[in-house]
Amino acid sequence: MYKLFFNLVFKRMDPEQAHYLAFRWIRLAARTPVLRTFVAAALAPRHEELRTEALGLRMHGPFGLAAGFDKNAVAIDGMSMLGFDHIEIGTVTAQAQPGNPKKRLFRLVPDRALINRMGFNNEGSAAVAARLAARVPVFKTVVGVNIGKTKVVPEEEAVADYVASTERLARHADYLVVNVSSPNTPGLRNLQATESLRPLLTAVREAADRTVTDRRVPLLVKIAPDLADEDVDAVADLALELGLDGIIATNTTIAREGLGLKSSPDLVKETGGLSGAPVKERSLEVLRRLYARVGDRLVLVGVGGIENAEDAWQRILAGATLVQGYSAFIYEGPFYARAIHKGLAARLAVSPYATLAEAVGAETRKAMQ
Ligand SMILES: Cc1cc2nc3c(=O)[nH]c(=O)nc-3n(C[C@H](O)[C@H](O)[C@H](O)COP(=O)(O)O)c2cc1C
Repeated sequence: MYKLFFNLVFKRMDPEQAHYLAFRWIRLAARTPVLRTFVAAALAPRHEELRTEALGLRMHGPFGLAAGFDKNAVAIDGMSMLGFDHIEIGTVTAQAQPGNPKKRLFRLVPDRALINRMGFNNEGSAAVAARLAARVPVFKTVVGVNIGKTKVVPEEEAVADYVASTERLARHADYLVVNVSSPNTPGLRNLQATESLRPLLTAVREAADRTVTDRRVPLLVKIAPDLADEDVDAVADLALELGLDGIIATNTTIAREGLGLKSSPDLVKETGGLSGAPVKERSLEVLRRLYARVGDRLVLVGVGGIENAEDAWQRILAGATLVQGYSAFIYEGPFYARAIHKGLAARLAVSPYATLAEAVGAETRKAMQ
């Protein structure tokens, strides 16, 4: 049904326009009490066995919405209504910014992929903080806040920029993510080098502790799939050293070669981050590597090319406590999150594991023996 609708309507529209149209419908449905109750009952079913505790937070299930879809925190209830059990808003930057010129989002339909060079278009940390402060939640959902660097701020002043966002947003975040891995802000990914990352994460941690005194806001870092293996290890070691709570693996890739892409060369060569099915293999590999290094000392969040319950299950077995998706939602539609939670419950039931927590990392542990 959705596939037909996608082919007849969304596929003929500019991808960004289609995004805003779908977004409007989701927000409208979430504002209509009878409709939202009905939709949530159908799409956000609760499987007792999927209850997840991570980052000191209780969730109904492990699957959530990856950053970038709800950059300005305007559709938290809407996405929760669709069955995403945690919503990561952002990336939010300290200052409001328009992002890159359009056209900046491309669909690679034969590859079940997207390329984007949005460039952190967002209303800025003050506006998003005000919106979160005023929010009266309809559904009880975990809200992660993902922060990044304002484009016009030079790399040498990046720390102060992230700190400004932290000071405004940390108190509204169930968890906070330092994004140093988007390919569309010049120089951003250089911050993944440990000599830049150490002072940045230390400063964000201090700013979060200074501004939120009644609880400890969990802090995670989000990394690129394009990091060399030794750099993945270095980030993992640094995260442990600094007492971070987790790592999100991964963001989009700038790679194009060797991914077997079938879309037209003109599309494939668009500048930006590639997401969806083609990033699946490397995201899983990075996750396995992280788990082998840190085990259960950090919460690992698996993201990148998760299209169905089997993909999510493989991430859990590889070491992810939480999993997220974005691109496949565009292709699979409103039943995407529901299908994943339902399929995970079915897989857990026939697995040797009594709980989801027991399944986390089981395959990676086995491979290491
Ligand atoms: C259009 C678009 C915008 C995105 N914006 C952000 C962002 O602002 N911050 C971020 O950390 N990740 C962003 N991402 C990356 C996703 O959160 C995710 O890490 C990546 O797309 C891989 O997951 P997927 O294959 O399920 O899409 C964006 C992805 C897409 C497709």
